[in-house]
Amino acid sequence: MRRKLVVGNWKMNGNLAALAEVSAIADAHRRAPGVDVAICPPFTLIAPAIARAQGMPIGAQDCHSKECGAYTGNICAPMLREIGARLVIVGHSERRQFHHETNEEVRAKAQAAVAAGLQAIICVGETESEREAGRAVAVVTEQLAGSVPDHAPDGDIVVAYEPIWAIGTGRTATCEDVGEMHAAIRAHLKQRFGEWGALVRILYGGSVRPDNAAELFAVGDVDGALVGGCSLTAAQFVPIIEAASRQ
Ligand code: PGA
Repeated sequence: MRRKLVVGNWKMNGNLAALAEVSAIADAHRRAPGVDVAICPPFTLIAPAIARAQGMPIGAQDCHSKECGAYTGNICAPMLREIGARLVIVGHSERRQFHHETNEEVRAKAQAAVAAGLQAIICVGETESEREAGRAVAVVTEQLAGSVPDHAPDGDIVVAYEPIWAIGTGRTATCEDVGEMHAAIRAHLKQRFGEWGALVRILYGGSVRPDNAAELFAVGDVDGALVGGCSLTAAQFVPIIEAASRQ
C-alpha cells in the first residue's frame, strides 16, 4: 500500500517568524499518523525548520547535480543531507521555465539527490496550450522518460504531476483529467520499472486547497499532493493533511 504524502512547497516565501507555522503543522502531523508530511522552505530556513519540525521531514526546492565545484550560488544534495534535509523537489515548472532546466538536468539532479540519501520529488506537467492541443499525456510521458533516472529503483523517488496552468492560478484540473494523467504516469512507471513502478507515489499539484483536497485524494493513483500557496499557513495546510488522513 502506498501511504499518502502531502508536501508543502514554500517557494520564495517565509521568514524566521513563519517557522511558527512549521511547529503548528508538525503538531497536526503528529495527530495524523497515517499520512506522510513534509515541508520544503527556502534554503535559509531548512535548518531552523528542522529544529521546529519534531521529526517531520524538511526538504529543499532544488539542488545542483554535482557534488562540489565552481558553481556560484548553488547548493548540492550532500550539503542538504548534511544539515538534515530529507527530500528535495527537482524539475519544478518554475525551475524549468525561469532557469531553463532540461529533462537531462532534472534527471541528473534526481540521481544526485538519491545518491546523497534524499527522497527526490520529480515534477512534470503540461502547459495550457499543450493540453488544449490534446498533447498533455504525450508531453508528460516524454518528461518522465527524460527526467526519471533509469536506476530509480535504487532510491526513493516520488513523481509530482503539476499542470502548469493550475499552479498558483486557483484553477484545478478536473478529477477526470487528474485520474487520466495519473493512470498514464502509473502505466509508464510500471512498464519501465515493473513491480517497483507500482510503489512510486504520484502526487497531484496545482491549486490544491482545503475545499478540493478530499475529492482529489479520492482519485485513483493520487497518492498525495504538492501544495504551494496553501502550505504557507497551518490554517490552510492542516485541513489538507487531515483530508489525506481520512482516505
Ligand atoms: P500552488 O503551487 O498550490 O500554489 O498552485 C503548487 C506548486 O507549484 O507546487
